[in-house]
Amino acid sequence: MTGKTEETEQPVSSEKRLLRVLAGLPVERSPFWFMRQAGRYLASYRRVRAEAGSFLELCYAPALAEEVTLQPIWRFHPDAAILFADILLLPEAMGQALDYREGEGPVLEPIRSVEALRELRPEAIDERLAPIYETVARLARSLPSDVALIGFAGSPWTVATYMVEGSGSADQRRAKRWAFEDPAGFGQLIELLVETTIHYLAAQARAGAEVLQLFDTWAGSLPEAAFETWCIEPTRAIIDGLRAAGVTVPVIGFPRGAGVGYRSFAEASGVDGVSIDSMMPLDWARQEIQSLVAIQGNLDPQLLVTGGRAMRKEAERILRMLGPERFIFNLGHGIVPETPPEHVDELAAIVREWRG
Ligand code: CP3
Repeated sequence: MTGKTEETEQPVSSEKRLLRVLAGLPVERSPFWFMRQAGRYLASYRRVRAEAGSFLELCYAPALAEEVTLQPIWRFHPDAAILFADILLLPEAMGQALDYREGEGPVLEPIRSVEALRELRPEAIDERLAPIYETVARLARSLPSDVALIGFAGSPWTVATYMVEGSGSADQRRAKRWAFEDPAGFGQLIELLVETTIHYLAAQARAGAEVLQLFDTWAGSLPEAAFETWCIEPTRAIIDGLRAAGVTVPVIGFPRGAGVGYRSFAEASGVDGVSIDSMMPLDWARQEIQSLVAIQGNLDPQLLVTGGRAMRKEAERILRMLGPERFIFNLGHGIVPETPPEHVDELAAIVREWRG
């Protein structure tokens, strides 16, 4: 490697199943990993978080973040590791106050005007996010050779909803109202997020991330035209920006809840794969999406809490409908804290042993 932009290029002949699927190459079984595979449902995670002091301190402590990223790798042997971090670190790195409260989730100092936006410091992000890049670099060295490393960021719309609401919200009403009433002003927030996300993801790729995932958790709350403007277009702009910066790693998009909008997302955003939610009909996904890009998904995380026959039946239905090629087995959303880890052991075995 020369240290130039080719550094981020993946050999297409990779042994890593996840990279093969994203490159459209054949695999003998579908690769798998689980969204939120590191987290509170694991006692080993809770111990390390207590040692770190808080979730945020854990994210910014490379040795500990590396350890919690690796815990599910050692236990379940999935085909990918996802960097342990959070989508809200980017606004925090620009200077927006952020706290995670027990039982309440994230709380931010809300930003609801163009004037408040001007106080953010996009030029400061690398200084704050340097430990995240270090975690990626450590993982690139410590991961088993057949496990792919996924870096990630939130998509601009979803990150904007948290920045504007100041917390999670049921209907994203304040962000929507700003977007509908003053699209030019709201567009400045989205533009800021597009630019900083390109920078953040390019740095992750340079540090060793082999795949990048964009989480658009609240894509499904946008009506059609707004979905184009605030989900598809910013995703397209981020991917164009990454490619212009010489970053060639594949990108997976997760426009959760987008319904039939998934098709225009797959056609127009430039992603290499889409992560489908648990509501998505598999037949439709196979016909409309899998011909365009790889699919990732979509077991309902509640079935992982349920376990047993119900979980097995649905996992096998998904594998039968979508695998083995151009498919990455995953959940439709993240693992929830009440999940018994033994159910995850069992699900990993089902996917690993499945031959369609
Ligand atoms: O998947 C992984 O294992 C990688 C790490 C990861 C986290 N968050 C760790 C985390 C990833 C990829 C995310 C993404 C994320 N963060 C999203 C998009 C995906 C989704 O779940 O919809 C969103 C919306 C966030 C914002 C966020 N962070 C919320 C709403 C919460 C509170 C909810 C909760 O589960 O407590 C967090 C905190 C958070 N992020 C935790 C973890 C492991 C729990 C923190 C803890 O208490 O230890």
